[in-house]
Amino acid sequence: MSNAVVIDHPLIQHKLALLRDKDTGPKEFRELANEIATLMAYEVTRDLPLKEVEIETPIKKAKFKMIEGKKLGIVPILRAGLGMLDGVLKLIPTARVGHVGLYRDPETLEAVEYYCKMPTDVSERDLIVVDPMLATGGSASAAISFVKEKDPRSIKLMCLVSAQVGIDRVKKDHPDVEIYTAAIDEKLNDHAYIVPGLGDAGDRLYGTR
Ligand code: URA
Repeated sequence: MSNAVVIDHPLIQHKLALLRDKDTGPKEFRELANEIATLMAYEVTRDLPLKEVEIETPIKKAKFKMIEGKKLGIVPILRAGLGMLDGVLKLIPTARVGHVGLYRDPETLEAVEYYCKMPTDVSERDLIVVDPMLATGGSASAAISFVKEKDPRSIKLMCLVSAQVGIDRVKKDHPDVEIYTAAIDEKLNDHAYIVPGLGDAGDRLYGTR
């Protein structure tokens, strides 16, 4: 039981295969990561509530459905999560954006928050936290804990590639958080990289090492 929603539309699988290719450079990698994020956002927002509205077409007045004034927020986990932000905003342009950044203390190995800025009305918002790689789940779980301190209405987590161990960790720490991923890979290696994965998502997005 994966405990995550796997969004494996053929377009997503195709683009993800290109993203994984070691010969895909940063420009194409950024484009693909955002395109996949757009396609995933379509599914992640499937349960948005609708309200009935009356619209006058050129032919007649009739009742139709529109999204009920639901307030959304997108929260990239710095820095690799930024590689999915524009793709999600493309589909939900009125969403507010929060940011959360953390690093691992080399001595205690604890995740330490160095930045967490949420939209002012975060308690009225449903948040989509985005991070391309869900590996051990340690940083995603810590980031979600930091974001929860700001008291959002709800949180979903959207990743490109996950390992089952990371899904299990986030679900154990945050059973209320629904996880969406485009793929669940085989395992982690000794350096906590996802296998086969796509390497270091941040480095591939920005051409760093
Ligand atoms: N972070 C990455 O960027 N890649 C992995 O494989 C694991 C964590």
